[in-house]
Amino acid sequence: MLESEKYKKMQNMKCYAYIVAGVVFQTIIILVFALTVMRIKTPRVRVRSVTVQNLNYNASGAPHFNMTLIMEIAVKNTNFGHFRFENTTANITFGSVVVGRGEIIKSRARARKTKRMNVAVDIVSSSAISDGNDELRTELSSGTLRLAGVARLRGKVTLMKMMKKSKTAEMNCTMTVNLSSHALQDLDCE
Ligand SMILES: *[C@@H]1O[C@H](CO)[C@@H](O)[C@H](O)[C@H]1NC(C)=O
Ligand SMILES: *[C@@H]1O[C@H](CO)[C@@H](O)[C@H](O)[C@H]1NC(C)=O
Ligand SMILES: *[C@@H]1O[C@H](CO)[C@@H](O)[C@H](O)[C@H]1NC(C)=O
Ligand SMILES: *[C@@H]1O[C@H](CO)[C@@H](O)[C@H](O)[C@H]1NC(C)=O
Ligand SMILES: *[C@@H]1O[C@H](CO)[C@@H](O)[C@H](O)[C@H]1NC(C)=O
Ligand SMILES: *[C@@H]1O[C@H](CO)[C@@H](O)[C@H](O)[C@H]1NC(C)=O
Repeated sequence: MLESEKYKKMQNMKCYAYIVAGVVFQTIIILVFALTVMRIKTPRVRVRSVTVQNLNYNASGAPHFNMTLIMEIAVKNTNFGHFRFENTTANITFGSVVVGRGEIIKSRARARKTKRMNVAVDIVSSSAISDGNDELRTELSSGTLRLAGVARLRGKVTLMKMMKKSKTAEMNCTMTVNLSSHALQDLDCE
């Protein structure tokens, strides 16, 4: 083989190596992009704080309670595009009974931002609870009241103004109201 042919072959090999390396590099970039920026995650919704107002209750007779809860709700969107959600009702429950509903007005959480909203909910224990009242009587006598707050925020995440994906963010929180201090004692969200 001539020296010049050998040289040419080596140059070709080098060229192929560069192409392969280039393709591998691009694939890695695309993969990283797909796994981070393009991966659409379900936003998280939680109750961040609660203020208790106008609390009334009586553990004797037909046990009952009523109050207004001012809840700060946070929608955390970790996507690289905004999350727009529809009007939603948040249910406040005692046991399995709904004792109040809060309106979450449609809005959007910007890319990689947390949207905070204040939602006021009037809580009234229904006759459905007072009728089978032993559980409620015990609970009110203990000085605390355990409530749960659930909501399902249906919406869409939009990436780069064109890629849209429906996502439903679920809120599921439990809270304990201290009946004597009117303060919230525990607040846990899934
Ligand atoms: C709340 O309960 C009190 C008694 O504890 C009662 O007088 C009042 O009418 C109730 N309010 C509502 C909105 O049900
Ligand atoms: C609670 O109910 C009992 C029995 O119905 C009643 O005698 C009492 O006055 C009530 N207490 C308050 C603070 O309303
Ligand atoms: C969402 O709620 C707001 C305020 O209650 C209301 O004005 C609007 O019509 C609702 N939108 C839809 C689509 O229901
Ligand atoms: C309610 O709060 C008061 C004051 O912070 C506290 O002394 C009391 O123990 C609490 N009640 C219950 C049942 O935890
Ligand atoms: C809220 O309660 C209504 C009926 O009372 C029910 O249809 C709805 O599914 C509940 N929402 C959630 C998020 O559980
Ligand atoms: C909320 O979470 C509790 C457990 O933490 C679970 O038992 C309950 O079914 C959940 N509720 C909803 C509506 O997902």
